[in-house]
Amino acid sequence: MTAPVKSSGTNFSGVSELRPVTVPDFLNARSRQQRLTMLTAYDCTMARILDAAGVDSLLVGDSLGMVVQGQPDSLAVTLDEMIYHTRLVMRGVRRALVVADLPFMSYQISPQQALESAGRLIKEGGAHAVKLEGGVRSAAAVEAITQADIALMGHIGLTPQSVRRLGGFKVQRDAQKVLDDALAIEAAGAFALVIECVPADLAARVTEAVKIPTIGIGAGPHCDGQVLVTPDILGLFEDFRPRFVKQYADVGRAIQSAVEHYCREVREGSFPGPEQSFR
Ligand code: KIV
Repeated sequence: MTAPVKSSGTNFSGVSELRPVTVPDFLNARSRQQRLTMLTAYDCTMARILDAAGVDSLLVGDSLGMVVQGQPDSLAVTLDEMIYHTRLVMRGVRRALVVADLPFMSYQISPQQALESAGRLIKEGGAHAVKLEGGVRSAAAVEAITQADIALMGHIGLTPQSVRRLGGFKVQRDAQKVLDDALAIEAAGAFALVIECVPADLAARVTEAVKIPTIGIGAGPHCDGQVLVTPDILGLFEDFRPRFVKQYADVGRAIQSAVEHYCREVREGSFPGPEQSFR
């Protein structure tokens, strides 16, 4: 049995309390008027910091193809790589709900393949839940996974694995398609829905149309929660910055300046000093 949830806090259990965030917490967030916070993580060190800061959920996103591996998109990321990064993240987490992405071609072939891939993310990666992209076209895969009692988050609107068909990372404005996709994924058993890069009023309509919580990224303020790619908000990824990103820190510059300092001290002979040396 879980401890009672505080009603006055900014998150489910208060940052100092360590009751893990659960799927039912997500489902109850709207009725409790609690906005959900989600960020991506790819390794243990960053997961530990984000978890300690009180983020409700960590997404081991296949965006790691771009922000960790330096590729132009996420298409080459493999299921084994996702399992590896999920394992690293799980070691750093005590409270946040960890959701792992099913990468491109790990669920499109058949519902059976989708279930097997999701099962590996749970059993080998240790993820609490999985996420996959697509609405109506992915509903059978979602159903196969959720029928096995694996918690699943949907992802509609701009689906980055479709970037080549879409011709780029573009705002999705086909309201009927986005609504149909949302309803299909909810009916197939998802517990939450990422909506990426759609006009704010359309995201508001979707949020009104479904009972499960919506998590927006580039989808305006009316969703039940927000997710962003952590290296974007920390200034660690500068290849391109979508308009919906807000940069909260310039960690990249801080790292560069620290490393320049280190190199200077080694070159001039002031590091290591007596405090860093053994007698
Ligand atoms: O892979 C990822 O980081 C994502 C977010 C953009 C939601 O799917």
